[in-house]
Amino acid sequence: MGAESKVPQHIAIILDGNGRWAKQRRMPRGYGHIIGCQNLEHMCNVIKDKGVKYLTVYAFSTENWKRSRDEVEGLLKLFRQYLKRCMRSAKKNKMKVRIIGDPSAFPQDIQDSIRLLEDCSKDYDQMFYQIAMNYGSRDEILRGVTGMIEDARAGKLPPEGFENGKLKEELFERYLDTAGIPDPDLMIRTSGEQRLSNFLLWQLAYTEFCFVDVPWPDFHEEELDKAIAQYNSRDRRFGGVKEE
Ligand code: IPE
Ligand code: IPE
Ligand code: MG
Repeated sequence: MGAESKVPQHIAIILDGNGRWAKQRRMPRGYGHIIGCQNLEHMCNVIKDKGVKYLTVYAFSTENWKRSRDEVEGLLKLFRQYLKRCMRSAKKNKMKVRIIGDPSAFPQDIQDSIRLLEDCSKDYDQMFYQIAMNYGSRDEILRGVTGMIEDARAGKLPPEGFENGKLKEELFERYLDTAGIPDPDLMIRTSGEQRLSNFLLWQLAYTEFCFVDVPWPDFHEEELDKAIAQYNSRDRRFGGVKEE
């Protein structure tokens, strides 16, 4: 292993374990989400200060609507507050924010906040921050394919997007929510679960995975450093062989 430590260009995080963290403290699940949200604001700055260019976080899945009405309403309230605060941190950190997922299921005021946040941060380039909200990878792929079919019908698909009649990855990727964003180098999931739960199925094809036991509200700089160290000890290959 080389001695120098590399900071991943793109880190993706599945923010899991807020509910269990709260339960351990005999508090309602919603309290875990509040502290988890505070930790997200804090860790976003920590991650930026490490020199990471792209951060993508999984905040709410297409399946999370199945939770109790109380919990979903609590989360919507948190999103309202968070999106407003995020506008300030986007300006301060010169950070371009993009919401990935399907915003159309959210109440209109949340959709308006999303549009405003994306619009006011669209020219920043110090960091690129993607928040997955009402995101599911299968849903993203189906929406992308639907968009492509519409463009095909309208005769808008560029011929250079095909090779020997077969669709090229580059053209397909333009229809994903993550269009233009490089694939994650490191994916971290907190709280012990070792599954993807419908997160970035296409984009994580060659990403290194790091599953940590601590729940999201307890994931601080020290834990991040450990994950980055683990990433640095890996031998990435992308299907090739290692050059000696
Ligand atoms: C992650 O924490 C946050 C969301 C999914 C919104 P959880 O709410 O999944 O917490 P656990 O997994 O039940 O502990
Ligand atoms: C995945 O976590 C979604 C988010 C963290 C937003 P879940 O807690 O919803 O996933 P499962 O149900 O454990 O697979
Ligand atoms: Mg969970």
